[in-house]
Amino acid sequence: MISDRAEQLSESQTLKISGRAKQLARDGISVISLSAGEPDFKTPAHICNAAIDAITEGFHGYTMNTGMPELREAIAAKLKRENQFSYTPDQIVLSNGAKQSIGFSLLATINPGDEVLIPAPYWVSYPEMVKLAQGTPVPVKTTYAAHYKMTAEQLRSHITPQTRALILCSPSNPTGACYTLKELKEIAGVLKEHPDILIISDEIYEYIIFSGEHVSILNAAPELSDRTIIINGFSKGFAMTGWRLGYAAGPKPVISALAKIQSQETSAPSSISQKAGLAAYTGPMTPVSKMRDAFRERRDYMVEELNNIEGVDCFSPPGAFYLFPDIRSFFGKLTPDGEAIKTSTDLCLYLLEEHGVAAVPGDAFGEPGGLRISYATSMDQLKEAVRRLKNGLTSLS
Ligand SMILES: Cc1ncc(COP(=O)(O)O)c(C=O)c1O
Repeated sequence: MISDRAEQLSESQTLKISGRAKQLARDGISVISLSAGEPDFKTPAHICNAAIDAITEGFHGYTMNTGMPELREAIAAKLKRENQFSYTPDQIVLSNGAKQSIGFSLLATINPGDEVLIPAPYWVSYPEMVKLAQGTPVPVKTTYAAHYKMTAEQLRSHITPQTRALILCSPSNPTGACYTLKELKEIAGVLKEHPDILIISDEIYEYIIFSGEHVSILNAAPELSDRTIIINGFSKGFAMTGWRLGYAAGPKPVISALAKIQSQETSAPSSISQKAGLAAYTGPMTPVSKMRDAFRERRDYMVEELNNIEGVDCFSPPGAFYLFPDIRSFFGKLTPDGEAIKTSTDLCLYLLEEHGVAAVPGDAFGEPGGLRISYATSMDQLKEAVRRLKNGLTSLS
């Protein structure tokens, strides 16, 4: 009854751990979750009000399949003003979250057997979406020393005649790392030698950057715009995860193919959310910078505290709301109950079950030497989480 397509998909490890954390909490056990992939803030009031107005004014119908023209114009203006990208509104498609934009981009461009390069550690959904498009995900292993950023040489060594696409994510989920203009220029140099490779650039964390400006592969090499799809959305920067609104901007043939798929699968995202998105891109940005300042304070606190724990090595990433410490020194150690810690999953399960703190194992992101800590929670919760982490990790011998 179940298709091969569904059978070959992996269950999301992030959901597995958060499911177990929720179960423990239901059983009355105190659990602090450092596994959230979403801001803990409320959507700014002016955005909510625009949605309320849309409801009371009766903006209840379908919009165009690709999204409201006014919103696509606002996105084109934003991409010009903030990113120096030139897109016309008909090169933009709005979807139910950036996730759908990425999935449909792959469905629109990947044929069975095509290889898609994904620097690891990666966002959990990329390889699974490639598999859904019948492509072959090819992880490109990176190193902690390079803050898990793929070098031009690592990229070059993974390209084969079957390579059709590269997925870049900066700022990164799960590491918070951001590519610099220089690094992107080097990567672009390799891509220019391979004109058949499409670039999917996921810039969903663009507004959560603590030092310097967001840079995209298209800032490094604008000439790649005829084979680059920019993915962005409202979930992270504006704390709008539940509104389900994201978009893809790219070359017209690709965007038309994506729109065709969308027209048969889902149609446009909610009209109410689109009105909210319009308010987000045309309204004040102060709420975004306030959230960013709060994230910065938490990052600084967490990085310092984690590095104070013997055996943990954690670089301070410039973006997103995640840390990805190196925890390899704990492998081979024993819990007080005599259980051996062999993998990052063992370590995360031990920390969850014995110390009530939930992080996501690096195994889920294709990098077994780390674990992902989300600091999208209050300072009080983070302080208690640090106490539990210290307790748990120093009890291993
Ligand atoms: C790297 C990355 N891309 C895309 C998404 C999906 O965002 P959306 O909520 O807009 O679908 C996420 C959400 O976790 C993400 O971390």
